Amino acid sequence: MSDQPLMPSEVRTKVLSQHREIEQMLSELEAGVAQLGQGGVDAEQVKRAAYALRGILELHMNFEEAHMVPAINEADGFGPERVRHLHADHAQQRQELDRLVDTIREARSPDDLTASVKRLADMLRNDIEEEEREYVTDKLLRDNIIPTDTFGG
Ligand SMILES: [Fe+2]
Ligand SMILES: [Fe+2]
Repeated sequence: MSDQPLMPSEVRTKVLSQHREIEQMLSELEAGVAQLGQGGVDAEQVKRAAYALRGILELHMNFEEAHMVPAINEADGFGPERVRHLHADHAQQRQELDRLVDTIREARSPDDLTASVKRLADMLRNDIEEEEREYVTDKLLRDNIIPTDTFGG
């Protein structure tokens, strides 16, 4: 991947499209769980998909930290405060994700598996919704044609 910094609007577009892909994967995971016991899908496949999703989420959070954090930091006077919040949110999400993915991998019954996949999906949808409300906005991630400090701002 290139180290060329992305424009804030490009960061916003990419983060939003990654969120839509993650939601798509969650829907597929839930659809897989709903078919458990019908022959087409087995518990191991669901567990592997959940484990793969954990890896994709790590890449996603790394992308946000590499590209969205610098853009938010520069956005306005509250940038550094928002960045601290975002890092704290991610730290909590990583812990929670590890815990939930472990629960999924250790699930002993289809009901356990269904319940833990639902918890994972609910958590991630909430995180995405909150993140889009707090950070991934066109107000914070917009391209400034004129640097703000030109006029002493
Ligand atoms: Fe995030
Ligand atoms: Fe995100």
